[in-house]
Amino acid sequence: MILVTGGAGFIGSNFVLDWLAENDEPVVNLDKLTYAGNRENLASLAADPRHVFIQGDIGDADLVARLLAEHRPRAVVNFAAESHVDRSIHGPEDFIQTNIVGTFRLLEAVRAYWNGLPEAEKTAFRCLHVSTDEVYGSLGKDDPAFRETNRYEPNSPYSASKAASDHLVRAYHHTYGLPVLTTNCSNNYGPYHFPEKLIPLVIHNALQGKPLPIYGDGQQIRDWLYVKDHCSAIRRVLEAGRVGETYNVGGWNEKANLDVVQTLCAILDELKPRADGQSYAAQITYVKDRPGHDRRYAIDAGKLERELGWKPAETFETGIRKTVQWYLDHPGWVENVTSGAYRQWLETQYGGKQ
Ligand code: NAD
Ligand code: DAU
Repeated sequence: MILVTGGAGFIGSNFVLDWLAENDEPVVNLDKLTYAGNRENLASLAADPRHVFIQGDIGDADLVARLLAEHRPRAVVNFAAESHVDRSIHGPEDFIQTNIVGTFRLLEAVRAYWNGLPEAEKTAFRCLHVSTDEVYGSLGKDDPAFRETNRYEPNSPYSASKAASDHLVRAYHHTYGLPVLTTNCSNNYGPYHFPEKLIPLVIHNALQGKPLPIYGDGQQIRDWLYVKDHCSAIRRVLEAGRVGETYNVGGWNEKANLDVVQTLCAILDELKPRADGQSYAAQITYVKDRPGHDRRYAIDAGKLERELGWKPAETFETGIRKTVQWYLDHPGWVENVTSGAYRQWLETQYGGKQ
């Protein structure tokens, strides 16, 4: 069995669902259920004995040690993190606690467990840490895409905290021999994406007749990856990645934010036209830029393709259409997450900007 952390969040829940759809190996899912954790994502596994859900913190060393001793996983996959850049700008503390201190405590518990394993299990054990392309900083227009050898230049409290966690993971391999793998991924999109992030926020606001907020000039570039492709990449790295290595994961889909939003509007115009016959693009609203906003990210995923034969299955065009359709088909999910704490967050973030 494997231990997944943060498996009630966007990528983690997609990973758990895909994992159990692909094979029968059980999953213990440790998630603190912050605002971003949503057990509804895992509703289809409610009666599935292969999925054990534990609400708890990766920084709770006793709890993690107990779970490891009880379930004896052959691998740990760490998704748990504070993940939203804007929140890290408003309040970095939680990012330091979970992404740095939490990862450290998790590594300590995993190291103690791994040290006590019999030799064959010790050799086969893997600890996979899920990280981000944001640790590499921002690219100029003509710079080559990020490679695994790029130096770390994180620019936001979020990316700095992820960079710190990556360094700890690296150090636990070099110092203690812990068999780690790290993946650095570009922007994901797809089902169960919390509507504080650009793509689900725009779909939600469009359907609600609200403004579609574009930070600055909207010409910032992100490299979009369909979440299920990210999940298949992680499975592949876990299966065959070289211990101690890092692998960049990306979709080869660089898009400017404004183009992404216009694409979403065009798909919505086709699938769910506005009652007044106007395009959803009429709702596009330019707002104040994000402080320290990184201009461009792009991932060179060549190492993963050359070494492990992984390639994304979706293009941006196919993935974004599936995503819009998923949100149209799941209005109840969106309604449930857009209550309470999330509303307050929208007020903090956009109240003064529109
Ligand atoms: P998310 O915010 O949707 O989910 C994070 C999950 O972690 C939530 O379920 C939350 O409850 C849980 N969590 C938070 N703090 C915890 C703690 N202390 N202990 C246990 N659980 C905790 O994030 P996501 O978008 O699914 O991202 C998952 C991972 O992938 C993160 O490490 C993120 O940095 C990384 N990543 C995300 C993207 C992206 O585009 N979303 C891209 C690259 C890398
Ligand atoms: O690159 C990987 C990263 O992608 C992950 O590590 C992060 O966890 C994930 O949140 C994501 O970070 P971004 O900051 O790129 O994602 P976000 O959806 O917040 O923003 C995408 C782009 O859109 C970014 O340039 C900011 C812009 N934006 C975002 C929002 C929420 C807007 O223009 N308007 C908005 O309302």
